[in-house]
Amino acid sequence: MNKLGILIDEKDPRVCLNPAFAKRYINDLKCAIYMESNAGLKAGYTNADFSAVGVTVCDRQTVLSEADLLLTINHIDFQSGEIANKEVISILNPLFYPERLETYMLPSVRLFSLDLMPRTSKAQSMDVLSSMASLAGYKSVIKAADLQSNVIPMLTTAAGTVKPLKVLVLGAGVAGLQAIATAKRLGAVVDAFDVRKSAGEEIKSLGANFIEVEGAAENQQAGGYAIEQTQEYLDRQRDMIDKYVRAASIVICTANIPGKKAPLLVQEESVKNMKPGSVIIDLAAEQGGNCALTENDRLIEVNGVRILGESFLARELAQTASNLLSANYFNFLKHYFDTAAENRAEDPIISGCLTIDNGVLVNDRIVTLVNQ
Ligand code: NAI
Repeated sequence: MNKLGILIDEKDPRVCLNPAFAKRYINDLKCAIYMESNAGLKAGYTNADFSAVGVTVCDRQTVLSEADLLLTINHIDFQSGEIANKEVISILNPLFYPERLETYMLPSVRLFSLDLMPRTSKAQSMDVLSSMASLAGYKSVIKAADLQSNVIPMLTTAAGTVKPLKVLVLGAGVAGLQAIATAKRLGAVVDAFDVRKSAGEEIKSLGANFIEVEGAAENQQAGGYAIEQTQEYLDRQRDMIDKYVRAASIVICTANIPGKKAPLLVQEESVKNMKPGSVIIDLAAEQGGNCALTENDRLIEVNGVRILGESFLARELAQTASNLLSANYFNFLKHYFDTAAENRAEDPIISGCLTIDNGVLVNDRIVTLVNQ
């Protein structure tokens, strides 16, 4: 029987197990679950909710001594004894933080990082990046609306008509498209930009204006992701974007490249030319940000423009985020248990996420990046 363990993560209100999926692990997959007391509380689930479906609610030490599979959401600086002989399933952004992997390089440890999930149809239900990016994209617009001193939609009142706000979305992947859809629903006039041509069609289908800068490099082997652009292209792009930034009341930055510093798209000068009261939400902050002035995890104000650097806005939607993560983790583990041990090395989903096996770094994407 597989024994799963869930721990409290003080820095994160989300949890990757809700009571509904706990029940499915226990009944359908015949697992036992050990959960640290109150691990689900900030996501809206009490110890009693978990006990009722058969979870053993206990202290951290018991989780660590009983579980053979630890399910975490972020990197935790475990002591080596705590994870000996365990499999750890997590989301570590190891392409950007390869140094985190040292914690897991122990002879008896196997680590899966679910953010390395291949972008295929079969893997969609396990795709933690998509789940969290959708929520972050939605929340970014809600957050910007809250920080704004103007209403977003056109309003016709007895005192006169209020014009709709202009929203600029940079990067139209999962988060960007959700931000566009949310801003449109709130009545904004939306411009959006992405280097991938296919994103242009999606931007237009949401009713936004696609800003096109010719000459972007694309690579079909990049698994749906963008690749780094030349300096010449980035300079042209920044000049083009500048006039849209100046006109926008809200800028949502989402452009990223896996494992690399985020592209710099909004210059300091452009921000200084924005109207006071405007807002920039930079979801790429963790990887350096798309705006030159972004400070990670901080809300700052420059010439009356507020800039929020925040890559984990899904944490502010802790219950929805936890429900989606619970589904993603369950679908991955079900697939893992259903795949015979001798076939796992050939399985693109399992081998795509497998990062460390018996203490050795085995993931090609990370190995390639580390050796660059
Ligand atoms: P991401 O978070 O790595 O990047 C966000 C966006 O930034 C991307 O659309 C990227 O093209 C864009 N970007 C990068 N450099 C830029 C620059 N210099 N200027 C402007 N934009 C720039 O990517 P995300 O959102 O995780 O996924 C990207 C794409 O992957 C999706 O749009 C989709 O095509 C594909 N995908 C496929 C899935 C599947 O088939 N299961 C699931 C999820 C995504």
